[in-house]
Amino acid sequence: MCGIVGYIGKKPAFPILLAGLKRLEYRGYDSFGFSVLDGKKPFLFKKTGKISQFEQEFPDPNGEIGIAHTRWATTGAVTDANAHPHFDCKKEIFLVHNGIIENYQEIRNQLIKEGHKFNSECDTEVLSHLIEKHFRGNLEEAVRETLREVKGTYGIAVVSKRDPQKIVVARLSSPLLLGIGQDEFLVASDPAAVITHTRQVINLDDNEIAVLKPGNFFILKEKPLETIEWERGEAEKKGYPHFTIKEIMEQPESLENTLKGRLLINEGTAKLGGLEAIQDKLRKIKRLNIIACGTARHAALVGEYMLEEYANIPAEVDSASEFRYRKPVLDKDTAAIFVSQSGETADTLAALKEVKQRGLITLGIVNVVGSSVARETDAGIYIRSGPEIAVASTKATTSQIAALALLTLFLGRQRDMALVMGQRITKELAKIPELVKKILEQDVQIEELAEKYKNFDNFMYIGRKYDYPTAREGAHKIKEVAYVHAEGCRGGELKHCELALIDENFPTVAICPSNSVYEKMMSNIEEIKARGGPIIAVATEGNEDIKNLVDDVIYIPKTLEMLTPILALIPLQLFAYHSGVLRGHNVDKPRNLAKSVTVE
Ligand code: F6R
Repeated sequence: MCGIVGYIGKKPAFPILLAGLKRLEYRGYDSFGFSVLDGKKPFLFKKTGKISQFEQEFPDPNGEIGIAHTRWATTGAVTDANAHPHFDCKKEIFLVHNGIIENYQEIRNQLIKEGHKFNSECDTEVLSHLIEKHFRGNLEEAVRETLREVKGTYGIAVVSKRDPQKIVVARLSSPLLLGIGQDEFLVASDPAAVITHTRQVINLDDNEIAVLKPGNFFILKEKPLETIEWERGEAEKKGYPHFTIKEIMEQPESLENTLKGRLLINEGTAKLGGLEAIQDKLRKIKRLNIIACGTARHAALVGEYMLEEYANIPAEVDSASEFRYRKPVLDKDTAAIFVSQSGETADTLAALKEVKQRGLITLGIVNVVGSSVARETDAGIYIRSGPEIAVASTKATTSQIAALALLTLFLGRQRDMALVMGQRITKELAKIPELVKKILEQDVQIEELAEKYKNFDNFMYIGRKYDYPTAREGAHKIKEVAYVHAEGCRGGELKHCELALIDENFPTVAICPSNSVYEKMMSNIEEIKARGGPIIAVATEGNEDIKNLVDDVIYIPKTLEMLTPILALIPLQLFAYHSGVLRGHNVDKPRNLAKSVTVE
């Protein structure tokens, strides 16, 4: 999705903006642009396409103040004119924007009547003209007046030749942070863009406006400094051909980080510092709603099974995009859990606002520190996966499931989970990173399997109980990165519909570890076999019998049933990744998708 970078300091702004934009490329974009205050004549360059296509022709503007943007089109087609920065009639005010101005049409009609000339179809352009209209010598005042008139969401950065020694930034429901360096300041929509310059950041809150000047900055309210905990190199490929495979391979460490210091094996519970302040309130909770989108929702579905089975709390998973539009029955004993890698997904945030209005306890399970979900929930668990750059979520997913297992322990032990059960779960959780490492050693075999199946255009993924969400996520991943049609289906539902699709051209990936539903899965596999469908099974090590029934087997080690999805997802992620690479796709940035979906 759209990305913003701005710089003000003593160095030439352009190379810094360019490097920052490149670090935001992973979010997906269709056009980009820069504006640098270069002496008397502001420099402007905006184009559709990828930055690398134009790098040779970039001029080298002077100027130590500038803003830049990657656009992922929402309002207005993908054209040079619709790319940001947008400007006013006199080309003196330049602005980049993430978000949507909902009442732009009405404002635009009014401004046209007043004589403003528009250059694009983009909703953002109304902001630059409104600032022009309200400008009386002070840029932040003009921005403040402008924002009073607009409805919608925004993270903006504005520069102007008419008040040149500053960048004015503001946010409402769209992430924006200030990077505080030595005699230099950056603004960005994502920490990845500032991390090479500084790790000292201030996350802006909604309705705040900040002014960055060459030697100082101010915000309308005092804000504490926070430190980005990611290492610089974590957001780089480290020799891997793609971020996707790097992030899949990082899972032993990312899971280790999720669990570090949190497993109290003797007490059979989890130490979750982020929940301590509200633990008494959590003790009284009688119901849970888990709200998320996409892959995070699949992790949430695993959580639903865990929380009901082991914490004995009724739990229900909602799609954040639907939540506001149905009439959820929520009483005061319900807590809502928001699962999100980015912590910035617009639908998840909108659901969070809705829940907060109803006065419920809200918890976040989030990766990005300081993100909106993290800040706006009452309490939460950081999953500590480190930066996830590839659009398709992998390491964050397994850490989300591990964090939900920790939450299950925490809430379960507050209720009637026996000590021995708590100890069993903590001990098994502690082994998970090592088991994941073992599965990753099968990468070459899984690549061969992807080669064998690369000409199939349809896949069925089936699983039951805990591995129903695994099947959903396996299908989600191969759709995302390999553009292969796939269905994620409950094994037991097959005969009610999907079986009609099965023939020798429609392979099935059956997730069938040796657990309480193994026999049932065998019946489903037989049903497929009888229709001539090729089958790849994900089975538990030592199960030799399955080889007689299916075409190919990927083995995973034995663990507790509730933790199996963490292990079973690893080969499915590898299979999707290799399938995408073999089909020649840009696996890190799948077409039409974006990393952080900040529009509804
Ligand atoms: C899938 C994927 C998306 C996200 C979804 C939610 O690989 O990346 O489906 O899971 O957009 O994003 P977050 O977790 O940032 O809220």
